[in-house]
Amino acid sequence: MTSQKPVILVTRKLPEDVERRLGELFDVRPNIDDVQMTTGEILSAARDCDGLLVTPTDRIGADLIAALPDRVRIIATFSVGYDHIDLDAARARGITVTHTPEVLTEATADIAMLLLLGAARGAHWGMRMIREATWGAWAPTHPLGHDVGGRRLGIFGMGRIGRAVAKRARTFGLEIHYHKRRRLSPGEEEGAVYHGTLEDMLPVSDFLLIACASTPETRRRINRDTLSLLPRGAILVNIARGDIVDDDALIEALRSGRLAAAGLDVFNNEPDMDPRYRELENLFALPHLGSATPDTRRAMGMRAVDNLEAFFAGDRPRDALT
Ligand code: 8YV
Repeated sequence: MTSQKPVILVTRKLPEDVERRLGELFDVRPNIDDVQMTTGEILSAARDCDGLLVTPTDRIGADLIAALPDRVRIIATFSVGYDHIDLDAARARGITVTHTPEVLTEATADIAMLLLLGAARGAHWGMRMIREATWGAWAPTHPLGHDVGGRRLGIFGMGRIGRAVAKRARTFGLEIHYHKRRRLSPGEEEGAVYHGTLEDMLPVSDFLLIACASTPETRRRINRDTLSLLPRGAILVNIARGDIVDDDALIEALRSGRLAAAGLDVFNNEPDMDPRYRELENLFALPHLGSATPDTRRAMGMRAVDNLEAFFAGDRPRDALT
């Protein structure tokens, strides 16, 4: 019986409950060391596998997909984002790819609000004053952050997470604007103002939240040209992917004060972010913590296992992308 279970390569250590369920359903090839695997290591471990359970730190590019044995029929990623997987290459080989939407929406929206509030009110410099014991005598005029209520929040990418942030932001008195390719229904908009182009939304975005997927169309979409359309003193928040932003342009805008502050959870080339970010006084940054709670990570793992289980039962997984 055991030998009939589908064989699954799991590229990282996952929450305990998830691993237990994986073990019940599948013949698991684990990555015992939990060290990120190279393309060569994934390929060699995938040799006798029927499926892969991967994470966003694994680069599942066209080369790797082309070299996978025919036996591999599914790649399930433990993430909502799938920019690390070449979907066209997977389609070309008839490999099903799944992701984990919905279960991390609320946790990621919470991080967006933390970044928005932290960047606006100076959580980064305030914390440093405490840690470095530089909290001097009180003064009426400094240090000061920026108000949130009564201002406008432009959301680039109004999917599940964007809408969950909009819901939170409304309760802080922000007026919601959004840009996405297709306009939402009035019920989904909940009063948010639609902009058919990003360029149209930016001039009314006192706060800009990047919540779109990283795709060839959105990569480097936030660059010198688009940043220059924001009101002077705007605040940028990115919870999506680092590659949507041009680092040189953002760093320049933060250094010059063109942008008042930024709150970033994601960076180009994580974890080796551009070191210039570390020196910015007006940056509130986190190390990609969007989904980082035990319950959310467990739910992501279970969702990935649901997809694998459905696939091997002969059904189309609910979160199939290909
Ligand atoms: C990260 C995410 O994967 O699911 C995604 O696409 O960006 C997050 O869940 C996770 O935080 C690891 O960095």
